[in-house]
Amino acid sequence: MAIRPRIILTRRWPDAVERRLREDYDVRINEQDAPMSAEQLREAIRSCDALCPTVSDVIDRSIIEAPGATARIIGNYGVGTNHIDLEAARQAGMVVTNTPDVLTDATADLAILLMLMATRRAGEGERELRAGRWSGWRPTHLLGLGLKGKTLGLIGFGRIAQATAMRAKAAFGMRIAYYSRRAAAPEVEAALGAEHVPALKDLVETSDVISLHCPGVPETHHLINADMLARMKPDAVLVNTARGTVVDEAALAEALAEGRIAAAGLDVYEQEPNVHPALLGLENVVLLPHLGSATRETRVAMGMRVVDNLDRFFAGESPLDRVV
Ligand code: DGY
Repeated sequence: MAIRPRIILTRRWPDAVERRLREDYDVRINEQDAPMSAEQLREAIRSCDALCPTVSDVIDRSIIEAPGATARIIGNYGVGTNHIDLEAARQAGMVVTNTPDVLTDATADLAILLMLMATRRAGEGERELRAGRWSGWRPTHLLGLGLKGKTLGLIGFGRIAQATAMRAKAAFGMRIAYYSRRAAAPEVEAALGAEHVPALKDLVETSDVISLHCPGVPETHHLINADMLARMKPDAVLVNTARGTVVDEAALAEALAEGRIAAAGLDVYEQEPNVHPALLGLENVVLLPHLGSATRETRVAMGMRVVDNLDRFFAGESPLDRVV
């Protein structure tokens, strides 16, 4: 009987995916479903052929270069790879894969959810009602921002940004503008009526809702800082479903507390799972626990994408989603 490749999952995955993996692999799973320490990850990479982390595991050089490492592939469960030292993997000759495409719609849906919750003050309203503080309907109660004809400014214009733009345009009649290093293909711009804005400050100054869709790399660290926040319109709303490091959370908390922008909707944070304490006390920010891809369908599809990458790798082919 052929030897089955040894796979380690750092977290529980949806049942259907775990079952599918067990058909062809010798699978070990972190049944506690709690974060593994760096030492446990080093131990894991020494005792498997494929390590399958999630976006919350920091796979740094000390793990990739752990003496005696046997893993030949890191099959990441997630599209973002900012938590993996890709250069160290390249140098160690380890293949790295991710799970693009399958989470585009779920994440775009969540960006729209945050945009609506923040502009229509849904969190504030629900907290008021549950606390028994609602005194009834009145013309001036919890007024928010209407979206029709407003400008959605996207930072980054990849798959998720475009899916968000499509929803915002079709459902709410928003105008679409975007900032990215290069302009998109003319047919993509035409389909969304999207305008490329080459300078970030111009996009930030002219948008009503600003939605972040760029990767969490050193070049985007604190792209939204005190200066950019000061340039936003007083009734602007910031939405982040990308990576927490793109926003200077302390500066954002200050801008929100002083009412310099109207509101924010966040799904990702600089130090997950910790949230900047100054944000926790504010009414005008919606805080979700990194739920962008959290639909049953999407999480199964993400897992199956990892399985496909592993299958191809162990069959001697190039995985479809090879990052390194
Ligand atoms: C990812 O895949 O990078 C998301 O942040 C989690 O679904």
